[in-house]
Amino acid sequence: MNPEDYIGREQTFIKHTLLRAYLERLFMIIGRYEEKISYVDCFAGPWQEGRNDLQDTSIAISLNIMKKCQEGLSQLGKNVQFRALYIEKDKESFERLKSFLADRKENEVDAKPLHGEFHELRDDILKWCGAKDFTFFFVDPTGWREAVEIPTLRPLLQRHNSEFLITFMLDFLRRFHCQSELEEQMKEIFGEILDTSEMTPEQRETHFLRKYREHLKSAQLKTGESLLSAYSKILHPLKKRTMYDMVYLTRKPLGIVVFMEVLGKLEYVQKDSRAQAQQTQRVERTGQREFSLKSTNIEYDEENFKLSEVKDYWLSKLSCEPKQFGVKEFADMIEETDWFISDFQIAFKKLHDEGKVENIDAKNIERRKTLFVNYKANYNQGESLKKMK
Ligand SMILES: C[S@@+](CC[C@H](N)C(=O)[O-])C[C@H]1O[C@@H](n2cnc3c(N)ncnc32)[C@H](O)[C@@H]1O
Repeated sequence: MNPEDYIGREQTFIKHTLLRAYLERLFMIIGRYEEKISYVDCFAGPWQEGRNDLQDTSIAISLNIMKKCQEGLSQLGKNVQFRALYIEKDKESFERLKSFLADRKENEVDAKPLHGEFHELRDDILKWCGAKDFTFFFVDPTGWREAVEIPTLRPLLQRHNSEFLITFMLDFLRRFHCQSELEEQMKEIFGEILDTSEMTPEQRETHFLRKYREHLKSAQLKTGESLLSAYSKILHPLKKRTMYDMVYLTRKPLGIVVFMEVLGKLEYVQKDSRAQAQQTQRVERTGQREFSLKSTNIEYDEENFKLSEVKDYWLSKLSCEPKQFGVKEFADMIEETDWFISDFQIAFKKLHDEGKVENIDAKNIERRKTLFVNYKANYNQGESLKKMK
């Protein structure tokens, strides 16, 4: 993926970077124990692409990753069969999708285009998925109607062995959520009418995301593992506000942790990409050249990181009796707070330096650079932590 292909739509570059990075981690993990993996792009496009070869679309990105992971897994002795389904309603876009898929070489991943409206095709989609195989659903519409509301997604959410990445159009919902004629639609999204009149924009976004994710999770079947969720903000390239959020749903604690590990890295990519976009805009406005930002060091985002809050949270979780903190515990903490893994790591190290906590399993914590609590140690059971008396 080349950032130059995304000038003027840097938010799509971030979305695609997230999709590509997460899919690669996911497929390489899932492929170790699944024989078949399916991928469904429910709103495929192509849409606003900058290249004729469609390499800057989720269609090509997902296919390239599936192929790469299939080869990577095969080197590990795992023969995994990947297949993909791409749904698109627009006639002209569908024709481009169809010919793009048809023009690929013979030994590529098995991929099928499907023409029509997503919500009308839900039964066909589920039939194509079958009941058993792991399926990743990418739900990336341009709006919310008959797309991201819970009644629309319910049949998919009730399917086991599935994960979801859903584009949540915050910008639209911010504007429309209190219009009385849209009350029914808002209830379908949030489960209730939200009163956000006293909230700051930041609080409103957090509240929307909490309610939407709770409502998504309430749609699952009562049997089997529960859905867990996390989300990523996709920021406006030039303004200090979110354009949309990517909501992630899984039934695996490891999924949440891996998604957050990817987000930790994406933060830096997003900062760099926005800094470049803002620099380009300044140069266009003033006509003055600036030095490239490529070599600029990007510092940790102190602004959004409330160290004392995270430290207090750790202290509330720990006791004088040692307790293991592994993938499951980190997934729960992430779900509860929406903080980054690095937030937890930094706060734990500060508490350690202040003599307030101890990682019993870390022989020499001073030597560690970032992983002050290794949640993947001991086969994901993690390390034993305690609060000092
Ligand atoms: C945001 S774009 C998808 C972009 C693509 N996922 C990517 O990242 O490259 C949404 C696409 O969904 C299509 N679309 C809109 N409503 C739809 C519907 N009800 N069913 C299926 N496709 C739809 C649009 O024509 C458009 O191509």
